Formats: sequence, structure tokens, C-alpha cells
Amino acid sequence: MKLFDIITDTKILKQISEEVTLPLSKEDEELVLDMVEYLRASQDEELSEKYNIRPGVGLAAIQLGIKKRMLAVCLVEEKKTTSYALVNPVIVSHSVRECFLNTGEACLSVPIDVDGYVYRPYKVTIKAYDAITKKKVTIKARGYLSIILQHEMDHLDGILYYERIDKKEPFRLRQGAEVI
Ligand code: NI
Repeated sequence: MKLFDIITDTKILKQISEEVTLPLSKEDEELVLDMVEYLRASQDEELSEKYNIRPGVGLAAIQLGIKKRMLAVCLVEEKKTTSYALVNPVIVSHSVRECFLNTGEACLSVPIDVDGYVYRPYKVTIKAYDAITKKKVTIKARGYLSIILQHEMDHLDGILYYERIDKKEPFRLRQGAEVI
């Protein structure tokens, strides 16, 4: 497993990442696959303690200081693990219905959690190249996975989750929004 230094410098994080050339270079492929492995290890109690890393379910290349439109997701659940190593992801459609995490979002690049609800579309359809399956994929995600993917895609555009929190009323409830 490769250990990464996660960037917290907002000057770097605010940059807009650039499209990646396909077919993927060996270097880019290794990087995005290593990012998935990093996330997987971060959710393993023993490994996260051993390496002193925070558990995470998503990571974008810009969080490593690499300005490329690549992101990793690794969601380990009781019965299945969902992982993606996405290159040039695009949201092609989303629901009008919104959702939010009742615990609020967090980010490996934001050392101190910012409280408040982040509203995002409940469902999204994303097209991308996936370095795990080595195919162009269309992902239909809802709920938690949809939130993770949208949070990571925000990173590609230099947006951090707390920018989406209502500063005056961080816990304002929006009608019809799904609580995740
Ligand atoms: Ni993040």
C-alpha cells in the first residue's frame, strides 16, 4: 500500500483539475488504483492505526496535489465493497430530490469538521472511465454513494463541502430532502 500525504492547503485544493488523456498512462492508472487501495486500508482498523491515517471513503487526485480529473471511491459495507477509480467523470443527470448526511460531511483535506447540512441531489448518473474495470462506465448512484461521488467530483472543480453549508442556518431543513 502506498502512503499519501493528503493536502490541506486550500490554495491547492481550490484549483480546477484538468482532463486526463485517454488511454490512461501507466503512471495515471497506478496512481488512481493506489488511491483506491489507500482508502481501503484507511477503513481497516489495524492499518489505519498502524499508519496513523484517517478513514476515508473518497479521494480526489488534487488532494495529493495532482491537478487531474481522477477520483477514487471505496465504500466497504457489511456485505459488499463498492470501489471506483474514475477518470474524467461527468454528471449526466441528477434527481430534483435532494439528500443530506445527518452527521454532516467530512473530508480528508479538512482537518477540523465543519458542522452543517450539505444538500445534494439524491440520485446521480455519472459517466467516466473506470481504471478498475478498464471500461467506460455509467454509474447510477443514490443516497450515500451519490453523496460520496458528488463530494469527490466537487474536488475536481475546487469546491470544498463546507462551501455548500448555509452559513446563517447550517442545520436548516429543506422540505422533501432525504436524510441519509
Ligand atoms: Ni473531500
